[in-house]
Amino acid sequence: MSTEKNKLTTSWGAPVGDNQNSITAGARGPTLIQDVHLLEKLAHFNRERVPERVVHAKGAGAHGYFEVTQDLTKYTKASLFAEVGKRTPLFVRFSTVAGENGSADTVRDPRGFAVKFYTDEGNYDLVGNNTPVFFIRDAIKFPDFIHTQKRHPQTHLKNPNAVWDFWSLSPESLHQVTILMSDRGIPATLRHMHGFGSHTFKWVNSEGVGVWVKYHFKTEQGVKNLSPDVAAQLAADNPDYHTEDLFNAIAQGDFPAWKLCVQIMPLEDANTYRFDPFDVTKVWSQKDYPLIEVGRMVLDRNPDNYFAEVEQATFSPGTLVPGIDVSPDKMLQGRLFAYGDAHRYRVGANHQALPINRPRSEVNTYQRDGQMRSDDNGGSSVYYEPNSFGGPKESPDSKIAPFEVSGSADSVGYDHHDHYTQPGDLYRLLSEDERTRLVQTIVGAMKPVESDEIKQRQIGHFYKADPEYGIRIAEGLGLSVPE
Ligand code: HEM
Repeated sequence: MSTEKNKLTTSWGAPVGDNQNSITAGARGPTLIQDVHLLEKLAHFNRERVPERVVHAKGAGAHGYFEVTQDLTKYTKASLFAEVGKRTPLFVRFSTVAGENGSADTVRDPRGFAVKFYTDEGNYDLVGNNTPVFFIRDAIKFPDFIHTQKRHPQTHLKNPNAVWDFWSLSPESLHQVTILMSDRGIPATLRHMHGFGSHTFKWVNSEGVGVWVKYHFKTEQGVKNLSPDVAAQLAADNPDYHTEDLFNAIAQGDFPAWKLCVQIMPLEDANTYRFDPFDVTKVWSQKDYPLIEVGRMVLDRNPDNYFAEVEQATFSPGTLVPGIDVSPDKMLQGRLFAYGDAHRYRVGANHQALPINRPRSEVNTYQRDGQMRSDDNGGSSVYYEPNSFGGPKESPDSKIAPFEVSGSADSVGYDHHDHYTQPGDLYRLLSEDERTRLVQTIVGAMKPVESDEIKQRQIGHFYKADPEYGIRIAEGLGLSVPE
């Protein structure tokens, strides 16, 4: 006998009489359309999927907290960083970039590193990667770039011709390509990698004074990577290896943690620094702007439900709080549009009201209605602004810190075209063994490219970063370094 508590019901709450046999006209007759429980079950099942993320579709998430370890309130008024010892709950989602929702975890790809801080002044999302730079530096190139990482429209296969054609024609990608092809391209687990905000952001203090800031999450587990052979074996044996590792570690009480550090640059330095500090293909020298520790992130709770918490989580670089603002980084600016738009399409106009996305602080907007409005929709409270009925009002002290703009409106690139110094420095920093593995990986990845012209164009970029780098890859491919 079922008790009241475990009584199976329909989605409208009525007890279900039979969940094993559909209603038929006689034992051998056709199924009756009046079996609405059956119809509802089949129809709901057909709607179980929401569109997967167009990038970063495969991911794993966990809950945790952030604790401030150093007072940086002279740089930001963000309540998240208000005092040493303050804890803020958060949710993290790690992901691969190019693969589909069911693709293997242990592939060579950057890893997404998205953090949602539930601060007491609204949510703050830091939607970064496990690398400090990116392949391109203007949002206008993003759809083309991602097309090259996805499947060919005819064969539905991954296409190395497109990958290397695009990279060789976009030399700003060289730094990220070098990182991706290095040992760090395949992390051992999601716990054994650093995280980066990658872009330059702006912090503003309570006096309205701003600084430029870059974020670094340093793994306390140490950086560990997989060799391509082990990674390939794991991709075959256990495509969910990283997902499983994260879940098991947390379930066993082995909570992964990262130190959060920042680099701080005075606003005026951006005018004189040796390259454009808003260019996301470059790192700031840590000699010029040393890392300053600000806190610690700990992941200590697994999601109860993957779909509700991980799939429906919506992170956006535009989800900002007072004290944290954006920079003129041309990639970041484009991302401010792309994510909210993706969320409204993928999850719906009211995605922010879902439990995983809902701020823990009070939400008082004049937004009403829309599909799947699942809260009280503002009840009978005043639904427009300004009003004479005591509705929520703006807080002038939360306005953005004003900044100057100048120049003519135009399609202009960054004026700094040295795509080679930083990847070359990185190459020169590697040990001989690391260089050998880097070259082997690149040669292996470029071999299937059909066009020698593409290969030679790319070899030219490696050569410009460091002649040895270019020569070794040319040799591996049986080609010469171009003039
Ligand atoms: C996910 C666009 C660059 C990190 C996404 C999604 C879109 C997108 C549409 C799916 C969002 C969703 O459905 O919830 C773009 C555009 C970019 C860009 C247009 C360049 C203009 C970057 C960069 C980084 C990054 C530079 C890292 C520094 C991520 C991460 C996710 C993501 C971590 C997954 C978030 C999650 O776990 O839900 N991106 N992206 N993206 N992107 Fe980007």
